Amino acid sequence: MKMRITVLKGDGIGPEIVEQALKVLRTVCEAGSISLELDYQLLGGAAIDKTGIPLPEETVKSCQSSDAVLLGAVGGPRWDMLTSDIRPEKGLLGIRAELGLFANLRPARIFPALQESSPLKPRIIERGVDLLVVRELTGGIYFGRHGRESAEGELSGFDEMRYSEHEIERIARVAFDSASRRRKRVTCVDKANVLESSLLFRQTVARVAASEYPDIDLQNMYVDNAAMQLVQNPAKFDVIVTGNLFGDILSDEAAMLTGSIGMLPSASLRSSGFGLYEPVHGSAPDIAGKGIANPLATILSVALMLRHTFGLAAYAGAIEEAVERSLQVLRTPDLMPPEEHSLAGYIGEAFGARKTIERASTAQVGDYVAQTLRSALAG
Ligand code: IPM
Ligand code: MG
Repeated sequence: MKMRITVLKGDGIGPEIVEQALKVLRTVCEAGSISLELDYQLLGGAAIDKTGIPLPEETVKSCQSSDAVLLGAVGGPRWDMLTSDIRPEKGLLGIRAELGLFANLRPARIFPALQESSPLKPRIIERGVDLLVVRELTGGIYFGRHGRESAEGELSGFDEMRYSEHEIERIARVAFDSASRRRKRVTCVDKANVLESSLLFRQTVARVAASEYPDIDLQNMYVDNAAMQLVQNPAKFDVIVTGNLFGDILSDEAAMLTGSIGMLPSASLRSSGFGLYEPVHGSAPDIAGKGIANPLATILSVALMLRHTFGLAAYAGAIEEAVERSLQVLRTPDLMPPEEHSLAGYIGEAFGARKTIERASTAQVGDYVAQTLRSALAG
């Protein structure tokens, strides 16, 4: 077997976290005698610095001839003063659109070792968090007509939010198919009490459910209510299907429930097995280069890549297990409990024995996960 992957390290902490994820991917390839071909390309601020634009043609070409794309993160204050058409974020939206990646899967699951890191009260978090945000990624307000107009000497800015039936139908099917393999519950999140595009979204999702997925339990929820219920009772959610903007916001909220935004991976897919895999968090320019960024969301994105693009679910599961084990032993600072617990680190329960969890660097976490995985795959 052969894997051709385009690697887009991007900006900020992107390069450091991608490096760790590649250690894990190489470990899988060695264990499975898979030949790995990596093509490094530029995206975002890094591309602006070298070529003047956030999404060079060469990057698109490389992605198009790969099996999958691994992406770090883009953006940072260095490029914030640029006009909106050459900002780093334009590169990210551009690559999603160019590659037709309309379905963004963001699974938020609480690892048992991280229960105490969640900002929610134990009595809420004990009921568990295991939900999947299915976010529409190439339509809605992100891709509508944008602009500015001037009338009577005053500027106004506008962004059009539009969804057509075929866009809603295909994202609905991704959500229902995902739910069929999970707890069979889908919550359609929208603002149908105010927005016409939301009302069509809700009605179209309901039509697809009624005609193609009779055994799925479909519920509707307004986005403000969903934001509230996510912190009040996250255990009630299985799959959430929603548009581009609401999915962006709710997936950050869902990520934080699991202890740190540094834990959430994502897969951006189209109908074929091709996909782009990236952490949900951003480029965190404030901590870039310090060796303290949490690489686990990117490592978990590699697991999603193995599962969705390459059909290697067993390797994906092995990576997730290695991540869980690493959390019992060492963690980057974002996952360390507050200092008052202990000066040396946190004393937690691990494998039935009391154990100190060490504070570790980005590279130490990457090495530990790769090593744990290597042993597991050899054993
Ligand atoms: C995300 C990010 C992006 C988005 C930004 C960086 C354009 O927040 O992937 O969630 O809004 O989609
Ligand atoms: Mg976001």
